[in-house]
Amino acid sequence: MANADRGNAPAFGVYVHWPFCLSKCPYCDFNSHVRHAAIDEARFVRAFAAEIAATAERVPGRTVSTIFFGGGTPSLMQPATVGAILETIARHWSIAPDVEITLEANPTSVEATRFRGYRAAGINRVSLGVQALDDAALKELGRLHTADEALAAVAVARANFERYSFDLIYARPNQTPQAWAAELRRAIAQAGEHLSLYQLTIEQDTPFALLHAAGKLVTPDDDIARALYDTTQDVCAGAGLPAYEISNHARPGAECRHNLVYWRAHEYAGIGPGAHGRLDVAGERRATATEKRPEAWLMRVESLGHGVVTDDVLTQEQMADEFLLMGLRLAEGIDPERYARLAGRPLDPRRIAILHEEGAVESTPDGRLRVTLAGFPVLDAVVADLAA
Ligand SMILES: C[S@@+](CC[C@H](N)C(=O)[O-])C[C@H]1O[C@@H](n2cnc3c(N)ncnc32)[C@H](O)[C@@H]1O
Ligand code: SF4
Repeated sequence: MANADRGNAPAFGVYVHWPFCLSKCPYCDFNSHVRHAAIDEARFVRAFAAEIAATAERVPGRTVSTIFFGGGTPSLMQPATVGAILETIARHWSIAPDVEITLEANPTSVEATRFRGYRAAGINRVSLGVQALDDAALKELGRLHTADEALAAVAVARANFERYSFDLIYARPNQTPQAWAAELRRAIAQAGEHLSLYQLTIEQDTPFALLHAAGKLVTPDDDIARALYDTTQDVCAGAGLPAYEISNHARPGAECRHNLVYWRAHEYAGIGPGAHGRLDVAGERRATATEKRPEAWLMRVESLGHGVVTDDVLTQEQMADEFLLMGLRLAEGIDPERYARLAGRPLDPRRIAILHEEGAVESTPDGRLRVTLAGFPVLDAVVADLAA
């Protein structure tokens, strides 16, 4: 079971970023770009191979437990491109026999033959960006697909992959808890083992941010947002898909193991434009990031052999803060002893006591510390308080 060890067993993930989309959604601030000319995938394959080799030289001898093709829209890649990248990863590191290999897909680029190709290349899990099951909402989100097309893509995913997930965005303009509950129930009827349910975030410098600032896009107020969040928890838990992370729901044992690598503060390599990594080199944890702009990343890799532009050693305090920030997102919470080892000091018992009294955190029978359901909507404040 993915969750059984609660993060104690070592894990090593590889994230591969594909930075292109067919169109840019007005709410999205991911590193994704639209190009009207064809993408030279062979050139990208060579650059990915160089960056994988350079990373493996820094962190040799690892066993890869998870691989994640994220984007952008990785389902725009040819299956042969995905296969070539996977072969390179396997040439440089060992691959765990139960490796989880996920590919993010957009419903507009899901075709049965392409999905069969991904499966043949080694992908064993897909995550689809459905976003809504309401055509008017999909239009407002700037999506190129209808609800029926999204559900058809889910059916293709189900036919080809034992493990699939899809994403929905809620807390959309004018959304009521009743309408969301009905939409979520329809989604759950089509869901497999996993769902990602994100509250709409107004990201800076996006078209949605401009509309929001001009009062032309009104998101639910705090009370409605809270009711939408509570509805999400109730409906999902009732259907056997409890939250294992603030926005992620799974049947027990079906959690996304790759995302658990991040939330449990394990080691991962970031490959491709704008990818982040956490690498343990010579006893130090390093935070890496690559050049974001796809063409500049290509040129950098072609001249230097890697696209890394940031490579910082994390201090003890930074590692401990990151561990809290990521770990407290999880329903399983954190191991306070691991915090103490990272920080060189234990968590402040007085602060924990106050948060306990406020009902924001609780201790589990096995000595872990976790945020309560009531504490999750104010998670940032809880983390800031504990890290202070
Ligand atoms: C990088 S996208 C990958 C999926 C694929 N590109 C697609 O859109 O179908 C990952 C997910 O982040 C979520 N997302 C992106 N921007 C968001 C925002 N501003 N607020 C909430 N969720 C967002 C969407 O649910 C999206 O599916
Ligand atoms: S939400 Fe997905 S499809 Fe839309 S721009 Fe972002 S990465 Fe691309």
